[in-house]
Amino acid sequence: MNTDAVKSLDQWLDNNLDAPKSERGKYWFPLTLPTFGKEEIAAATACMCDYQTSMGATTREFEKGFAAFAGAQDAVMVNSGSSADLLLAFHLVNPLKPRMKEGDEILVPAVTWPTQVWSPLMAGLKVKLVDVDPQTLNIDFDDLRSKITSRTKCLFAVHLMGYPCDMQEMQNICDEHGLLLIEDCCESIGAKYDGTHVGNFGIGGTFSFFFSHHMTTMEGGMVICNSEEDAEALRVLRAHGWSRAHIPVSQQTVDQRFQFINWGFNLRPTELNAAFGLEQLKKLDAMNERRDELAQRFDEYIDSTPFLDRISMPAKGTSCPLATVVRLAGSASKCRVDVLNRLEEAGVETRPVVTGNLARQPAAKLIGDLDPTDFPGAEEIHHGSFYVGLNPMFDDVMFERMIRTLDTAVRESVESSKTSKVA
Ligand SMILES: Cc1ncc(COP(=O)(O)O)c(C=O)c1O
Repeated sequence: MNTDAVKSLDQWLDNNLDAPKSERGKYWFPLTLPTFGKEEIAAATACMCDYQTSMGATTREFEKGFAAFAGAQDAVMVNSGSSADLLLAFHLVNPLKPRMKEGDEILVPAVTWPTQVWSPLMAGLKVKLVDVDPQTLNIDFDDLRSKITSRTKCLFAVHLMGYPCDMQEMQNICDEHGLLLIEDCCESIGAKYDGTHVGNFGIGGTFSFFFSHHMTTMEGGMVICNSEEDAEALRVLRAHGWSRAHIPVSQQTVDQRFQFINWGFNLRPTELNAAFGLEQLKKLDAMNERRDELAQRFDEYIDSTPFLDRISMPAKGTSCPLATVVRLAGSASKCRVDVLNRLEEAGVETRPVVTGNLARQPAAKLIGDLDPTDFPGAEEIHHGSFYVGLNPMFDDVMFERMIRTLDTAVRESVESSKTSKVA
């Protein structure tokens, strides 16, 4: 380690790094705030001072640390959550050990981040969207059962917004129909089902370390898995189809340092991302506790108003919320657009729940000829819900102010909808 350079950088950061501003542009209550500071910046910069930037020992250390956090046997780091989804989807059709073949069906929920859908599509699989339950935000089990055919081979579950799916029900369905299971946990670091971290219930689980997520590596992602064989295959797919495994001299046909045993991508992270992640990992439990504290406060508020509904959780689920999801209810359920306008004017940043009903997105035609109204649960989320921030850096004062502002916006909106009906 170039200790002199790191020491002077440390001093420089002490003197020059300002705390991040809590407002972002016109919003005093933004969707997110930076959760990193001097430690992450110094650790990432130290990699450059050491001229160690390409994936190496720091990435491996972070993979081991994250696997331990998630209770998984192994973890493979990549450069984004979308890359993690891509890697896992291509793992299913890996030419060296295909579990699925072109045209086989994979079921994906209708409310999720689009790369969870594009990844299996790009891998040549046929994606079928399944409706979601607006109360849990996760897959609707009745619709799931009705969508399974003899061509269905895999379920790609998502644990949305930090809320775990009912994995008992999910596994029963997979067992009954002989389905493979993979999990997108990009929004759910820290979420558990029956004490087990999400991502450990099937072949693999994907995670995102994007800026606004539970922890960040600037950009980055991870696939966790529980078999050495899967981990090795994922590593080969991650980096060019390249294998560093030892080949006995008698079987060597190429320079063993440069043997390509499969096709593959280059989805590698840099050492800077991993060094950043190692520092974030030290703060993760405290950050998640703060998220939980704020989420509990919001639940108390929900219980005090007739205009919002809580998200329901499976009995054995432990959530770790990513955002403050606002599910409008009762006479407020038709007021979404008006409430959003009022919040925008009041300086509170909002956004749809992930992308809303995916079947409404222009690119959904790549999946097939979809009628968005065939997904009533996703429609309810699309037209009746949105989210505002939930960030461990938010203080109590700003969170309470957000609740008051939201409460006023919803009440005024309901009042004005009554008046316009009378008029
Ligand atoms: C459910 C889900 N899957 C995948 C991703 C992709 O992660 P990334 O933004 O790191 O590519 C996201 C991103 O927010 C997500 O929410």
